[in-house]
Amino acid sequence: MPAAPHPAYPVGLRLTGRKTVVIGGGQVAQRRLPALIAAGADLTLVSPSATPSVEAMADAGEITWVRRRYERGDLEGAWYVLIATGDRAANDEASAEAEEHRVWCVRSDDAEAATAWTPATGRTEGVTVAVLSTEAADRDPRRTAAIRDALVEALRDGTVGVERPHTPGVALVGGGPGDPDLITVRGRRLLAEADVVIADRLGPRDLLDELPPHVEVIDAAKIPYGRQMGQEAINQALIDHAKQGKAVVRLKGGDPFVFGRGMEEAQALAAEGIPVTVVPGISSSISVPGAAGIPVTHRGVAHEFTVVSGHVAPDDERSLVDWGAMAKLTGTLVVLMGVDKIGKIAAALVAHGKPGDTPVALVQEGTTAAQRRVDATLATVGETVAAEGVKPPAVIVIGDVVREGPERNRR
Ligand SMILES: C[S@@+](CC[C@H](N)C(=O)[O-])C[C@H]1O[C@@H](n2cnc3c(N)ncnc32)[C@H](O)[C@@H]1O
Repeated sequence: MPAAPHPAYPVGLRLTGRKTVVIGGGQVAQRRLPALIAAGADLTLVSPSATPSVEAMADAGEITWVRRRYERGDLEGAWYVLIATGDRAANDEASAEAEEHRVWCVRSDDAEAATAWTPATGRTEGVTVAVLSTEAADRDPRRTAAIRDALVEALRDGTVGVERPHTPGVALVGGGPGDPDLITVRGRRLLAEADVVIADRLGPRDLLDELPPHVEVIDAAKIPYGRQMGQEAINQALIDHAKQGKAVVRLKGGDPFVFGRGMEEAQALAAEGIPVTVVPGISSSISVPGAAGIPVTHRGVAHEFTVVSGHVAPDDERSLVDWGAMAKLTGTLVVLMGVDKIGKIAAALVAHGKPGDTPVALVQEGTTAAQRRVDATLATVGETVAAEGVKPPAVIVIGDVVREGPERNRR
């Protein structure tokens, strides 16, 4: 019985400034080069042709491209080589030269003939996870990539048993529009590390269920026109918990700085000398129309989009919006917090010259299971909202983009 082959010996190469040669400028090079560039390798690509992405790396000066086929001597002075051409004979020749010079050599065409293998890698928070098959015969890139993904995910969401860092202070986390998958990786990690979470009604509420029991969850209850925990009270709660040395997450809907009062909170915390981290989020202003099949821009249709708060009516003296200017825009108008005022907003736009047949879509509870879309025009939207019982939260999109996309025939 043949002896079991020895497993590969894992190692981290520090390639900064060291000559690294890639032979072949196709898909393999395109996938591997970014990590080699990130490692600071002094990269030479030898290949008569390259994919447009690889060519762009050469144009940007990230790699030196020698535009010809491999020739003996190309590996002179190299520390590491990746052979990835479709020409078996050239690969064998380059491989033989690498062996001669004792340069570690990865081959995309023949794992058995290679002297090094590229692991499936992922990075999170200062750790690189690298997964290698034990034997060449077992090499299954899909399996190693799946194991890598599972490990990185587990590290990110805190489900593998590592001690979570405890960083006192406040993170203002944009939670995205509601679908729990639409929070950022960083936001999710900070949530997993929190002692206290102060959450809005909007945003990914489902994620709160996943928090361990010791995490204190406080509902900021910023329900429009309902019971309200004043902003002052929210600021004070953030300050009090942070001063107790806790890791506090202020989980907000969408992005913290798009009608999210995030800066008020950041300023109040800064005034108390409390460290604040801001984690951007996917704003409902773009993602909710997108989820309903409406692009806020579309080539040849809208070259701009403007996001406006509709929380006060155009005739309200507190309004800071120039509705006359809005009526003149040719692009898309996205109105947040405007369900109750949309009749008056539409009337103001029409009074300032916007055509009454301009299409309007209201997308309620976007990205959640309750998402629904109601279409109208500026002339009909006031009535339609009442007739259809559209309720906040909804994003209102005004403009020709409403007619684009696969959903355009919905009423
Ligand atoms: C106080 S603003 C906060 C906006 C948030 N910071 C953002 O970037 O999406 C709340 C408004 O956002 C809109 N909104 C937020 N999430 C929504 C969702 N899932 N579906 C529809 N509208 C949403 C509604 O217009 C709602 O009245």
